[in-house]
Amino acid sequence: MANNNITSSSSSSSSSPPPVREIPGSYGLPLLGPLADRLNYSWFQGPETFFRKRIEKNQSTVFRTNVPPSFPLFLANPNVVAVLDCKSFAHMFDMELVEKKNILVGDWMPSTRFTGDRRVCAYLDTSEPQHEQIKNFAMDTLKRSSTIWVPTLTTVLDTMWDTIESQLPSGPVSYLVPIQKFIFAFSSLCIAGADPANSPDIADNGYSRMDRWLAVQLLPTVPINILQPLVEIFLHSFPYPYFLVSRDYNKLYEFVEKEGKEVISRGQTEFKLSKEDTVHNLLFIFGFNAFGGFSILFPSLLSSLESDKTGIQEKLRKEVREKAGSESGLSLRSVQEMDLVQSFVYETLRLNPPVPLQYGRARKDFELSSHDSTFKIKKGELLCGYQPLVMRDPKVFDDPETFVPDRFTGEKGKELLTYLYWSNGPQTGMPSASNKQCPGKDFVTLTTSLFLAHLFMRYDSVTITGASFSAVEKPKSKNE
Ligand code: HEM
Repeated sequence: MANNNITSSSSSSSSSPPPVREIPGSYGLPLLGPLADRLNYSWFQGPETFFRKRIEKNQSTVFRTNVPPSFPLFLANPNVVAVLDCKSFAHMFDMELVEKKNILVGDWMPSTRFTGDRRVCAYLDTSEPQHEQIKNFAMDTLKRSSTIWVPTLTTVLDTMWDTIESQLPSGPVSYLVPIQKFIFAFSSLCIAGADPANSPDIADNGYSRMDRWLAVQLLPTVPINILQPLVEIFLHSFPYPYFLVSRDYNKLYEFVEKEGKEVISRGQTEFKLSKEDTVHNLLFIFGFNAFGGFSILFPSLLSSLESDKTGIQEKLRKEVREKAGSESGLSLRSVQEMDLVQSFVYETLRLNPPVPLQYGRARKDFELSSHDSTFKIKKGELLCGYQPLVMRDPKVFDDPETFVPDRFTGEKGKELLTYLYWSNGPQTGMPSASNKQCPGKDFVTLTTSLFLAHLFMRYDSVTITGASFSAVEKPKSKNE
């Protein structure tokens, strides 16, 4: 039985901390150590085995290692202290202990050319005044749009399913493009208040313009284990220049500037942001945070449905129709009563956290505890947590490697939410201007639950094969 009685922050620990131990592991020889680690991380082992092997070797979930990008053309220090269990990882939520300036993807930061020559919210530390302005703006924008989440999602999803259904007679339909189009339209409407339908170019190409802008920024840090060593040589050795996607970004900027006037004007008047700061930040939140995050989460959700062998679709359908039967309908309220649907979403986020790596730089010297040891961290050292392993901490989660759809139901399940960290904070936490937790925390889980609920209102079941739908079964009564 997992021991859930761990503290999430060193400062709130009630029992005495575990014995002090020197941080194990090493950075190796200059240049060669980082290069060997980079090749193992991105090619020979892949991130998961890379971190697992070092936990075994060091007999510790906290150790020194290098992470890419590094040698030869990145001006970045690859040395990190890995934190790979729930207890040590949680120190990164304590803003008195860690600083978050410019470390969204590690010690290296993509050029600010990608974001209008400014540092957008996700790269700002809580000590920077603009962080508070933009974070409050982001939270306010979501709060205000909450009344349109359900009707917007229903309309955009019905369009998606109608298209998929019309293509199914010719064979399996890949869901990748339809899902991305849905995410793009939904995020744009709810976050920027901008309707892609008003711009033919954006309606057709908005999602692919966004994909290219994201890919060129992030390629150096994303492990891709195909066509090696070409990937290492051409994708992981130098940053890509902005001009490759400037046309895409400018088109997206023009679209948000023209169609998102109301939200932009609120950013200026209520949050005292300049117009340019507002549009670039909106674009980042809608494009990088929301579109980027959902584009990873929805395929994971569908793959969780595909791999189930326990008849979960029937159980989900039963719950959805019970709670959102024709009288009350699908609503934010009814979806919050769907315990199994929500648990299925949480379990997907636990095993497939869309943002796998998180970083935090020590603001001062402090002591960091894992379950069994305490380590002395020096001011300036970079902590690096790899969530897919942290979320399989056997001291917190029973049967941690298995997808358990109802893990987060019932009283014990709800308590476990304290250890669900996909949003850079506990699922029970509150995003605010004084922390770096994702302001989309509830929007993301509710939207994803609504997606599932909508699916099981519309269909009795769906057959998923790889990244395609091969069949959908409509409710019997609708067929008659
Ligand atoms: C599946 C979707 C999403 C995932 C997986 C996700 C994940 C995250 C994570 C892990 C962080 C913290 C990054 C770090 O500092 O290390 C973050 C920050 C952030 N997210 Fe999300 N997010 C998602 C959707 C959204 C949405 C819908 C919004 C819309 C408001 C949003 C807005 C932000 C912002 C503004 C930050 C920076 C917070 C700060 O600087 O304090 N995200 N997100």
